[in-house]
Amino acid sequence: MRLDKYLSDMGAGTRSELKKDIRKGGAVVDGNVVKDPGFSVSASSSVIFRGTAVAYEEFVYYMLNKPAGVISASEDDREETVVDLLPEPRRRDLFPVGRLDRDTEGLLLITNDGALSHRLLSPKHHVDKVYYAVVSGILDDSDVELFRQGLVLSDGLECLPADLKILSVSDASYESEAEVTIREGKFHQIKRMFESVGSEVTYLKRLSMGPLSLDPSLAPGESRRLSEEEMAALEVL
Ligand code: URA
Repeated sequence: MRLDKYLSDMGAGTRSELKKDIRKGGAVVDGNVVKDPGFSVSASSSVIFRGTAVAYEEFVYYMLNKPAGVISASEDDREETVVDLLPEPRRRDLFPVGRLDRDTEGLLLITNDGALSHRLLSPKHHVDKVYYAVVSGILDDSDVELFRQGLVLSDGLECLPADLKILSVSDASYESEAEVTIREGKFHQIKRMFESVGSEVTYLKRLSMGPLSLDPSLAPGESRRLSEEEMAALEVL
């Protein structure tokens, strides 16, 4: 691949900045200064840019604790996106695996690995997603049963059976806390499932997706790279 692409993939700068710096002699490939931004390099080349070795990583994986108020997209002209929350320098080809609503918090995987994203999101794979929800009204065993049977949403869409675990109910505030496990990802699915049993979601947070659980040490807006163990667990999906 081209030297400027290699460096931009690794988050070293934008293509135009990189071209300028390479032409000025900022890049050393396999021991030689290279001033041609189109010079051909491979993942095994030794590349030093502005005095720092830049190793090539094909895929990168971040866990983000998505805060409310940010959209699940790679880039947007007007609004802050989940990718904007990752620390710089970062590569330009990152995207979130699936979407959380603007007001939903919690676990979001951000990567450039399209095949993994497909495995996690494909309806065929039925990857478990666990959410914590605060909802209006008093949940009871009849709701658990309705979720277990598979709810029908207001537009007639049928949901796969889901697990509803009631964590607490409060008569005083007329609300309930619950954990819900779903195995698919329809648009606004959790909110619409509760709507179909007469409740409104007032807070929603994703706790896990397949083998990946939200790191409790990440505050909303914070992210970190996945560990070796987490990446290995995702590989077997
Ligand atoms: N279900 C929803 O309703 N919203 C989300 O953000 C995720 C799942």
